[in-house]
Amino acid sequence: MNATSGNGAPGRRFPDGFLWGASTSAYQIEGAVDEDGRGRSIWDTFSHTPGKVHGGDTGDIACDSYHRSDEDLGLLAELGLSAYRFSIAWPRIQPRGQGEVNQRGLDYYRSLIAGLRERGIAPVATVYHWELPQALEDRGGWASRETAQRFAEYAQLLAQEFGEHVAMWITLNEPLQAAHQGYRVGTHAPGKTDSELAAAATHHLLLGHGLAVEAMRSVLPAAVPIGIALDLHPIRAAGDDAVEAAAVVDAEVNRMFLEPVLHGTYPAAARNELLPAPELIEPGDMRAICAPIGFLGLNYYSPHYVRLGDWDDLRQGETPLAGGPGVVSYVPPELPRTVMGWIVEPDGLYETLHTLHREAPGLPLYVTENGCACDDYVTPEGHVNDVDRVDYLHGHLDAAWRAIQDGVNLRGYCHWSLMDNFEWARGYQRRFGLYFVDFGTQRRLPKRSATVYAHVARTNSLASGDGSVVEPLLAPAAGR
Ligand code: FCB
Repeated sequence: MNATSGNGAPGRRFPDGFLWGASTSAYQIEGAVDEDGRGRSIWDTFSHTPGKVHGGDTGDIACDSYHRSDEDLGLLAELGLSAYRFSIAWPRIQPRGQGEVNQRGLDYYRSLIAGLRERGIAPVATVYHWELPQALEDRGGWASRETAQRFAEYAQLLAQEFGEHVAMWITLNEPLQAAHQGYRVGTHAPGKTDSELAAAATHHLLLGHGLAVEAMRSVLPAAVPIGIALDLHPIRAAGDDAVEAAAVVDAEVNRMFLEPVLHGTYPAAARNELLPAPELIEPGDMRAICAPIGFLGLNYYSPHYVRLGDWDDLRQGETPLAGGPGVVSYVPPELPRTVMGWIVEPDGLYETLHTLHREAPGLPLYVTENGCACDDYVTPEGHVNDVDRVDYLHGHLDAAWRAIQDGVNLRGYCHWSLMDNFEWARGYQRRFGLYFVDFGTQRRLPKRSATVYAHVARTNSLASGDGSVVEPLLAPAAGR
């Protein structure tokens, strides 16, 4: 299905109506953490705890997007995007996670959504991108069943308030990371290191998703789809002796979330210590969790390689895999990596899209996150030549295009991220944006990747080559 792209070069066309978007999340960009009645979240607490975030960074100011939404809407328009995936900060809406509703929080998102609509950009709202109100964490957080109920109420409130003005709703972002990093290894808020809590959090996050789908469905028009964003990672065995271990890791990392959501079961291959304890699973829970969804969001960054290894005698490229003594995660030194240390493998995206196509035939799929961190810098001429990101983008869009040619029902792609932001435990040290943010002045500057991506979005096709032939589309905006 080769066609001619906008600049006359042969290209790979995407289906008509394909959504081209960029993603962000509230805590990572908004700042203004003490303004307009916002309550505290677990990330406020965590980032202010010494030693938890690189360089002691916090999201207190971040990209100051709360005060600069007009400018940021302008960036999306400048890129010619048709979708914007953002998240709604629970503590702005319900400062204590239940009860009292903060009108000023609702007003903020109402105006953001209206601003997107005015520009012809579809609002894609994530209900939960990791900002649990601290008041709920104090009552047990996701390890407590009550949080699932509170989450469903909050989700229903959002559906009532914003309804069909939001084009697509995403209940949870990456429940795996919320449970694993938040409660098992403690590298994310709330920083707990307890496997039992993590297994309980897994179940309650999934239950929260299912209850939220039902609660939102009861108030939303049928045409407005609700989905979930899962981070899935192809698990590859580095060596024949690791094939069985890789299957177990796949169950514990990927199928632990995919199977309940799609089929209402936990994966048989997962070990007991990672599975939610049977007494946590009440009658009806699994049916609630597999409430029909309108689409599945895939956050894809990289595959994981595993091999057998000794936790007490780790070799180069090895890190222990939580819950699996004798098995290590391994980064083969010959494979390309980003500055996060994440392996770059576009075929992993192709393969994961096929997996989803098999698991849920016909279900619309969206790439809700994909992108890479680079050591970006501004040249003396005022440019950011992020050629590695351009390569990454091209490789992954080509993988997405190939999957579509095979019949995979992929409907859109949202790049992570619109702009550099607070990268959780890595603070501001890791830049994922299409726009470079100078955090001292809050100036936004389009990187080379922004130019390339804008070209893709505007032409709905991917030009041949590495994108270096594409002429900059973005005239430097006044004041940049
Ligand atoms: C994902 C998160 C997102 C961002 C990217 C790099 O796991 O959902 O907020 O941090 O990683």
